[in-house]
Amino acid sequence: MSTEENNGNIVLLNHPLLQHKITLLRRVETGTNEFRHLVKEIAVMEGYEALRHLPTELVKIQTPIEETEQPMISGKKLCFVPILRAGLGMVDGLLELVPSAKVGHIGLYRDEVTHKPHEYYCKLPFNISEREIYVLDPMLATGGSAIDAITLLKNKGAKNIHFLCIIAAPEGVKAFSKVHPDVKLFIGCLDRCLNSKAYICPGLGDAGDRIFGTIK
Ligand code: PRP
Ligand code: URA
Repeated sequence: MSTEENNGNIVLLNHPLLQHKITLLRRVETGTNEFRHLVKEIAVMEGYEALRHLPTELVKIQTPIEETEQPMISGKKLCFVPILRAGLGMVDGLLELVPSAKVGHIGLYRDEVTHKPHEYYCKLPFNISEREIYVLDPMLATGGSAIDAITLLKNKGAKNIHFLCIIAAPEGVKAFSKVHPDVKLFIGCLDRCLNSKAYICPGLGDAGDRIFGTIK
């Protein structure tokens, strides 16, 4: 059975366990602790799907029974790049899958009136052009933050880039794939639309506020 609906570079993940956990995440009564835990679990599931193409090589090992050649992940230089703040919630889930990966950080916040992203921080591992990059952010709303983060990475030499989000709006997906058609976009759930404040409907509210408990 297929675990994803793949439309070119847009991958809509549809595993029932993932859908179940995203539903729990959306609920207004889900508190900070449970929200963080769910974001991490969802990141593991999305990472598992997004990393299924990783190459393996045969290595010789000894089992208690005999010597054998078995597959192990071969020399990919992975880098996870959360968009601050909310993307931080996904990092530990991805690191659980690939503990040796490097982690870069891009800080962006959306202006409350214009909804345009503003950069305030960027720290990336060296040799970014040689790394396979996974940008992490739970929310793709207008797409502005994802687009700017990836433009920034490309300006620094990055070539092999993927984007993982939990919930996306159709408006954001359209804008994103127009500007970065070469970047593979993994989506946990595609929602209906944006509201007048550029929040995703039905969405889950402000992901950063819910992860860090800063809801007014
Ligand atoms: C949220 C979210 C994305 C962005 C998505 O961050 O985590 O980065 O909004 O919206 P967009 O697609 O319209 O750009 P926010 O700017 O609220 O910052 P925060 O994570 O620090 O709360
Ligand atoms: N950022 C969020 O955290 N949530 C939205 O619905 C839109 C942008």
